[in-house]
Amino acid sequence: MIVGHGGRESALGFRMAQHSELHAFMGHANPTLVRHARASGGSHALGNVCDPSAVAAFARERAIELAMVSADEPLAAGVVDALLAQGTPTVGPTRSGAEIEWNKAYARSLLGELAPDAMPELRVVRTPHEVDDAISFFGERPVAVKPSGLTGGKGVKVMGPHLADHVQAREYALSLLARRGGGDSVLIEEKVQGAEFTIQAISDGSTVVFPPCTYDYPFRFDGDRGPGTGGMGSLTMNGPTLPFMAMRHYEQACEIIDLVVERLARERRHFSGVMNSGFFATADGVKVIEFNARFGDPECMNIMSLFAGSWPDVMERICAGKLARGDVPLREEASLVLYLVSPDYALRTGPPYRFELDEQVMERAGCRVFFSSAVEVAERCFETVGTSRAVALAASAPTLARARERVVGCARAVPALEWRRDVGDEAYLEGLRGLLARQPA
Ligand code: GLY
Repeated sequence: MIVGHGGRESALGFRMAQHSELHAFMGHANPTLVRHARASGGSHALGNVCDPSAVAAFARERAIELAMVSADEPLAAGVVDALLAQGTPTVGPTRSGAEIEWNKAYARSLLGELAPDAMPELRVVRTPHEVDDAISFFGERPVAVKPSGLTGGKGVKVMGPHLADHVQAREYALSLLARRGGGDSVLIEEKVQGAEFTIQAISDGSTVVFPPCTYDYPFRFDGDRGPGTGGMGSLTMNGPTLPFMAMRHYEQACEIIDLVVERLARERRHFSGVMNSGFFATADGVKVIEFNARFGDPECMNIMSLFAGSWPDVMERICAGKLARGDVPLREEASLVLYLVSPDYALRTGPPYRFELDEQVMERAGCRVFFSSAVEVAERCFETVGTSRAVALAASAPTLARARERVVGCARAVPALEWRRDVGDEAYLEGLRGLLARQPA
């Protein structure tokens, strides 16, 4: 059983359906999940994915043998707790295991104990007075303002791309506190200079498997311009690192993730599934941006594109607490994911937006299609639902250039949707290499 309806769940459901009967519980009829559930002899139902009792009832009615909960809000709502309580083996942390994501103040206090050198300087503020103190503490130094709770990946604002100066940083922090937007505290942190990478670490709560680093394109427009989004695309290189970082950054990041997973176990917080951990590679080593208690979306699709085994087997090993490093075979290739979105996406709330897409032609061209916030309205005709991204295209190949060629070739066949032209392109990668050249060895 998969719970959720994004591109991430499409990719997981696709891998599950290859080796088992897939049952999908989702908020809208995601065409990828509907298709794979049907073809595998499974089923789907629509409902509130954040309602633990509704998800648990769906699992009971179908005698589900293995489940995965992979989105932040259902995890924070305790969906895994409800499934485990009724005896459904489930991949995903309980609400207390997922606190590492839904409470950034908690995550920072943990990190402060485990790896203080990897923590940016910060202040946790709960009152307007504390906001003023924090802003004057940082003086001229640029800051990032982060709500403590969940905001769908869109709540963090940084001086430079989002906030013009400390006056705007202060106003944003005050507005978050006033509307309790994303928890009851706000983090004001020094802005770290470096390049971002994530590791989608897979764990049974004790053993941790480390795939290659992923690089995400969070901004809406080419050249990292425009508003922040859930992610317009992502890539992995053929190898563990990215062009702007050294192996020591990767190793240090993996060590920190190991420490965090070990600590959660010691605190008796049930953690299983994916610790999607965000870092900056800097001249002084890595700095932690955040921990997410589930695969990233789109980054999950990179890992599922490279995956060369049986995902239900991996789920079984995780649920049994017997995950071994060799249990997650990944092809030694590069991978690229591109989200295609409606023209309104991240800019304004528009009406449902219609587009045509031929999945079979794309799959023959070596590209996987993973629908997200869209439903099928007629043969090869789809419509967006809600305000999120419409559909992702994913490919892996021996080189990133080859993977990109496949994905871009298919994206051009959907003229109604917009996408970033610079995801994985040579000029962008050259810019990333430049970041490494500017860092002392
Ligand atoms: N792509 C960012 C996230 O899933 O959190």
